[in-house]
Amino acid sequence: MEFKSDTDTEVLVQLVEYIMVKKNLPLVEAVQVALHQVIGAYAIAIIDKRDPRQIIAARKQSPLVVGIGKDEFFLGSDASPIIDYTDKVVYLEDGNIAVIRLDEGLKVISILGKEQELKVKTVDIDLGQIEKGGYEHFMLKEIFEQPECLMNCMRGRINVEGNHVTLSAMIDYRQQLLGAKRIVIVACGTSWHAGLIAGQLFESLCRIPCEVEYASEFRYRNPVVTKDDVVIAISQSGETADTLAAIQLAKEQGAFIFGICNAIGSSIPRATNTGTYIHVGPEIGVASTKAFTGQVTVLSMLALCLAAERKTISEDLYKQMVKELTQIPDKMEQALKTNEQIEHLAPIFTYAKNCLYLGRGYNYPLALEGALKLKEISYIHAEGYPAAEMKHGPIALIDSEMPVFVIATRDRLYEKVISNIQEVRARGGRVTALVTEGDTQIQKFADHVITLPDTPECFQPLIASIPLQLLAYHIAVCKGKDVDRPRNLAKSVTVE
Ligand code: G6P
Repeated sequence: MEFKSDTDTEVLVQLVEYIMVKKNLPLVEAVQVALHQVIGAYAIAIIDKRDPRQIIAARKQSPLVVGIGKDEFFLGSDASPIIDYTDKVVYLEDGNIAVIRLDEGLKVISILGKEQELKVKTVDIDLGQIEKGGYEHFMLKEIFEQPECLMNCMRGRINVEGNHVTLSAMIDYRQQLLGAKRIVIVACGTSWHAGLIAGQLFESLCRIPCEVEYASEFRYRNPVVTKDDVVIAISQSGETADTLAAIQLAKEQGAFIFGICNAIGSSIPRATNTGTYIHVGPEIGVASTKAFTGQVTVLSMLALCLAAERKTISEDLYKQMVKELTQIPDKMEQALKTNEQIEHLAPIFTYAKNCLYLGRGYNYPLALEGALKLKEISYIHAEGYPAAEMKHGPIALIDSEMPVFVIATRDRLYEKVISNIQEVRARGGRVTALVTEGDTQIQKFADHVITLPDTPECFQPLIASIPLQLLAYHIAVCKGKDVDRPRNLAKSVTVE
């Protein structure tokens, strides 16, 4: 057979056609035969123009959802574009084929042609949740809805008195979760940053050793995983190919897998032993905002549950921390009031070619996240760094052209961060500091100060993420960038 294209999708169509003609098979059987020869992930839909009343769809490692309407069907990689038309969907299982005929309806078969049970689900997504609701961009809407999202995330999990957390996974799989000798977190992108914060929580509150890994590295580096490990996979979309592959690897080694996802019914929740949804509603903006704070909230609730059960924190501290968590939505509302100030500041930074984000402790992953937000949507190069590591390299870059954003909220490392700010100032760097209300020291050294409500240091990233998201948003808007659809990026990365 002669190749007529070097694009994989086009090659596949040619292969199906070739098999149909050569073996005189109907389309569905030709697809089955063709897919046997295909290596790698795919989600495909095929129509033969000689029989346009039929669509054959198939998936392997890439998501595919079939929406069932009245005399019509829809195909998508997740349910959100479909719910405008129908709430009845079938999540196609890996390796299965959907045969859709206008006259006969939907049938699902295995790659070997065996008919499969049709599992129709009703999706519960409110259409209003995926509209902009008066905001100029989805990203801005999603930044502003975080207080409400976090209330939804905690609802039914934290009692009305606000002093106790119950996660159903913790009840159903108590033994497996409490038996963890080690926690390994796998995730990509922003979800990995949420994982870095959680890693500190699990170690400091629960005294469980924790490793946080990029799923894309973990899956290829032959890691040591045992049946005493709990592997936590974090993913907004629930479809990230590398995270799914990391889960698969950990499963094969006997680890217990816990998923933290947003998209209900997506592949990762289906591949895990148990988990907790973050329930922040569909996230449309490519740059993740509310999913990040939702993930950190669920991870905080999980850490508090584990710490209480393992008695690694006192009963009083546990109750106090749970209470503090319930106050985060109100404090986020206060943090959102910095929007106007940040919108004002943003034009100053549009000239920058490079920016540095510094933080320590729990605020270090947040520095990474702040830098990622800026890179993603404004295309300004930005680096997040642990503030004390700056002297081992990045300090050489600092001059008056380089904006430096420092997360300098009041915590154990506050005095040390002040020294780091002074080091930046001494080299002519321009400092914008995020500080805790009542702070009087830092304004002496910083060019700009953004004030945030006080909260325990482990929850500080939930509050301080707000101004960093707003900063990235307003800088990108000032530069005229397409905030919701940044170039070269995808919301769900279903390929490795
Ligand atoms: C893409 C998105 C990021 C996201 C990352 C991981 O790169 O653009 O916003 O953080 O994938 O996605 P996940 O759905 O697994 O959280």
